[in-house]
Parts: sequence; C-alpha cells; structure tokens
Amino acid sequence: MESSRLLIEGGRRIEGELRIHGAKNSVLPILAATLLCGSTSVIHNSASLSDAFAAMRILRSLGCTISHEGSTVTVNSADAEGDIVSDGLMHEMRSSIVFLGAILGRVGRCRLSFPGGCELGPRPIDLHLEALRRLGVRITEDHGILDCTAGVRPQSADITLSLPSVGATENIMLYSALGSGETVIRNAAREPEIADLAGYLIKCGAKITGQGTSTLVIDGVPSLHGCEYTVMPDRIEAATYMGAAAITRGELMLGGVRPQDMYSCMSVFSEMGCGVYPYDDKIFISARKPITAVRTVRTMPYPGFPTDCQPIVMAVLSKSSGTSVIVENIFENRFMAAPELRRMGANIKAEGKVAVIEGVKKLYGAKARAYDLRAGAALVVAALGAEGQSEILNTHYIDRGYESIETALSSVGADIKRI
Ligand code: UD1
Repeated sequence: MESSRLLIEGGRRIEGELRIHGAKNSVLPILAATLLCGSTSVIHNSASLSDAFAAMRILRSLGCTISHEGSTVTVNSADAEGDIVSDGLMHEMRSSIVFLGAILGRVGRCRLSFPGGCELGPRPIDLHLEALRRLGVRITEDHGILDCTAGVRPQSADITLSLPSVGATENIMLYSALGSGETVIRNAAREPEIADLAGYLIKCGAKITGQGTSTLVIDGVPSLHGCEYTVMPDRIEAATYMGAAAITRGELMLGGVRPQDMYSCMSVFSEMGCGVYPYDDKIFISARKPITAVRTVRTMPYPGFPTDCQPIVMAVLSKSSGTSVIVENIFENRFMAAPELRRMGANIKAEGKVAVIEGVKKLYGAKARAYDLRAGAALVVAALGAEGQSEILNTHYIDRGYESIETALSSVGADIKRI
C-alpha cells in the first residue's frame, strides 16, 4: 500500500497537554455490535482511525446507513440484512473477525474469509469457532472461507476459554446477546474494552453481568434497541504519548484518560524514573531524570502489562542507563521494532519471546520502517528522542490506531511532519 512518511527532527522536549481519543479496541467491537440493534445508535468519541473507517465500510456493505461528524458516528442498522464480509474488507483489517458474532446474531448466517496470519505472527481463531459451535453454530471451512449458520441454541452454555482471548470473548458476547438462553464465559478476557462493549450492549437492552471479571454471564434477550454511547479512552495511545514525554525528558498532562485502567503501564514508567501522577481523568508524567533500565517487563492479559505497549516501552528503554529485559507472552512475532530501533543505534537482542535491551546514551535519526501499528508508534517515539532527522516509512500502519499522530505531537513541541 502506498503511504506517506513522517519526518521527525529529534531532540525536542515534549511538553504540554494532550487529550486522548476514544479507544480503537473498543470502537471496533462496538461498531460491530450496532448491527444487533436494528435501529439507530450514536457513538461518541470515535477516533478518526483507518481501522474504524474499515469497520464503517463493512457496516455499509451489510446494509447500514452511517453518518460521521467529528468524533461522532451514527449507525442505522434497520436494513442490515447482509451476511457476507468481502475478502477485500477482511484483509483490510484483521480485527474484522469481530463481525462474525454480530452478523450471526443479527441474520443467523455469515460468510467471510479466514483472517489468516498478520504482522504479529499467526492469529488463530480456533477459540472463537469452538465457542460458537458450542452455541449451536454450524461452521464449515473451505479454501479459507468460513461459512457459518446459526442452529438451535442450548438453553444454557458454559464455555471455558483455554486462554483469555479478547476477540473470542467479544464474539461470544455479540452472538449471545440476542436470542434465548444463558451463556457463561469462564476465563473471559478482562480488558477494559470488554467492559466497554458490555456497557454499550447493556445500554441497548442486553443482560450481561460480570464484566471486568473473568466470568461473564450473558442472558439472551429477544431484541435490542439503539442508544447513545461514549467510547472509553485509548489506554495504548495514552501510553504512547507517555513514552514520547519519557524519552525526551519532557512533561505531559494527558487528559480524558482513565488512570485506573493503566496501573501496569504507569508502574513501568515509574520504575524507569519518571514521575507519574494520576488524578481523576488525567495523568501527569514528568521525566526530569534520565531513564533508568527496568528489571523485567512481562506482557500479560489485563490487568498485566499490555502487549500493545511493549514496543513503546522498548523504544524508551533503548535510551536508558542499564540493561532491561522484556518477555513477550502474548504474540509470537512482536519484536518487529527491534531491528529498526537498531538502525537508530539501539542495542537490542531479541530471540523468541525475550528481548534484552542494553540502554545506550544516544539514539541517532535514521530511515526506519513500520512493520505493524505499535512497532510504528515505537519508531516515532524513538525518533523523538534521537539526535538528528528520522524518516518513518509505512505510516499507514500507524494511522490504523492513532488519529493524526503528527498533529498531536506537534502540539506538544515535536518537530514532526508528514510528507
Ligand atoms: C486484541 C487487540 C490487540 C491486542 C490483543 C491482546 C483488538 C481489536 N485487538 O487482539 O490490540 O494486542 O487483544 O491484548 O481488540 N489466540 C488463540 N486462539 C484464538 C484466539 C487467540 O490461540 O482463537 C491467541 C492469539 O494467537 C494470541 C493470544 O491468544 O497469542 C491473544 O489473542 P487475543 O486476545 O484474541 O487478541 P485479539 O483479540 O486478536
């Protein structure tokens, strides 16, 4: 895909205030969930992200009418009778798999192509399919196409996930919200975005309890109605800008956040020597002292340290005193930023799920390529802390999850432009 480049002149202190946008990982399942209402939903705090636009294209292709003004998206799903997500749309965004549960719940059938692997390695959906089968869905897989038909639902289904998959938990919730029968999900993902999806569905009339815990109970209802809902703030965007402040010895006040969702991130930044002060819906970060290495950062399902923040923290630790270790427990191929950071002078050895970062005193501007969304954001963070000019290629990855990253960072002192 042809995309623009970011030119960053490093070494400027990041200082000021930023308001965090709505969460990508919330708005995608919530947009999928609007299918279930059969009427109009007004979704506020929806950031302008290419992934959100891809989700809107899917909704339109299924028969929804959508209007989009600023950060508000209005979806009318009254005529959404479509049951096919085209191959092109599936490939545009791997997370399109979250439409499976919603389309099946809405029209009882769904045909889409297998999402396959992605930049982060193989992304299996076996847990999604196993759970849907337990809920009576008949699934055939043929040459990469999934053909699903809703069957008779059990009066009660008790599903234990072998690992707390975010996407599988969402698909089960979406499919179980409408209809009869009680579905229990054990070892459910506890990510705040799951509770946000539950919040939207409950406002539409769904009966869901246990959100935020590892046992979710969904009691199917005959119908749902539209509602007005505000998407939660993006904790990964917030952590990215915390990284930008940390690596430039800057100070940032982040507004519109929920500090209670970010304790694991905040504690890593504190361990690096930053002052991190949460209050109400704000986090203040101050990096007056040089960054120090941390012992070991292990990515874990929520409330553990998020895998999506791992590349950001790797970038910051590249320019630190001492040796840090990162253990990546969620995705197989999530050290994509490491070779590109090495171009900037970082000393990182990554093998399997472990990366060892020998902090260096200085990073140097370089031409570097984003190979996935968060690795791309990590390169931007590193470039801000590097001496000289960097050129970040493949910015379409970054645009999947950040609303105009260059506008946000310029407003707090960065020298960054898109060409
Ligand atoms: C979601 C997030 C992504 C985040 C990830 C982990 C969205 C749109 N994306 O992705 O940003 O990095 O959670 O917090 O919300 N797995 C299986 N079988 C399955 C499903 C998952 O083995 O059927 C494995 C995956 O390969 C991975 C792990 O489980 O190793 C976690 O995946 P999952 O929680 O499902 O992540 P996503 O929902 O894809």
